Amino acid sequence: MVGFDGRVAIITGAGGGLGRQHAISLASLGASIVVNDLGGSVSGEGSDESAADRVVVEITAAGGIAVAEHSSVADPAGGEAIVARALDEFGRVDIVINNAGILRDKSFANLTPELVDPVLDVHLRGAFHVTRPAFAHMKERGYGRIVFTSSGSGLMGNFGQANYGAAKMGLIGLMNVLKLEGARYNIKVNAVAPIALTRMTTDLFSGMADTFAPEDVSPAVAYLVSEECDLTGEVWSVGGGSVSRFFVGLTDGYVKPRRKGLLTVEDIARNVDAIRDESSYIVPFSSQDEFSKLGPRLV
Ligand code: NAI
Repeated sequence: MVGFDGRVAIITGAGGGLGRQHAISLASLGASIVVNDLGGSVSGEGSDESAADRVVVEITAAGGIAVAEHSSVADPAGGEAIVARALDEFGRVDIVINNAGILRDKSFANLTPELVDPVLDVHLRGAFHVTRPAFAHMKERGYGRIVFTSSGSGLMGNFGQANYGAAKMGLIGLMNVLKLEGARYNIKVNAVAPIALTRMTTDLFSGMADTFAPEDVSPAVAYLVSEECDLTGEVWSVGGGSVSRFFVGLTDGYVKPRRKGLLTVEDIARNVDAIRDESSYIVPFSSQDEFSKLGPRLV
């Protein structure tokens, strides 16, 4: 049985949508929750403490343990305050689910700094601000589970979301480094790319809204932040009852052995198919794996 008795989880942006559901799910499995939410609009305007407060009322009414926290993740001091709240209230942090997010969609040519910076600040820098103090604490205690909320918009691209897609893919880079830095300390770091009907996606699911419930995303997130989870550096696509894995594959490619001279542009032109051939590839965990694959073929 996957359980969270005695565990303390910080969930950002947990005043609604997916974060709320993650909070309710983990609380029902025994975790104590810091429900963080600034409570602004989808585009990140304004603030409203009642969003986080309502979720805390919901959790406690169901017999769970939760406290509200209203800082913005986009502010370094906010990140510190969120982690401090967990430590003050519960004395530890075992789990961080970076989930807070906003949208400011516009086609690339029409993007302005006002549309780019806040999106990077909430999704990408926000994840740094919250995870950094939590990670330091986890290292000391030798235990941690971290999930980043990425998106197909970064992993595959989505028209009009250059700001959002870049931030969401940036989180994968952050995950990849933390999976290495956390390995010695039993800190597992993973990501999800969810698909769910929330206020952020109301226009997306014409006729299929019922298929994509936030309730179908939280079980995968709960597994990834559980003690049972040994995985690290994974990116899971989760939605509508389906769970699968995105990964970065490295094809066998074309190699011109050193003894045959330096690579030329003609070599590339002649071997584009081999470079791109997906019939054989590895999924490298780190650059070590890439070098192990390359080494014998280069001489
Ligand atoms: P949502 O808008 O219901 O939830 C986002 C929450 O983050 C809101 O409650 C909002 O108040 C909070 N928030 C925004 N800025 C904040 C800040 N600076 N500090 C603290 N809290 C802040 O939308 P949803 O769909 O639940 O989104 C959750 C996460 O999932 C987001 O990161 C989103 O980008 C991601 N996502 C959602 C998808 C979906 O299909 N719903 C698809 C791919 C990714």
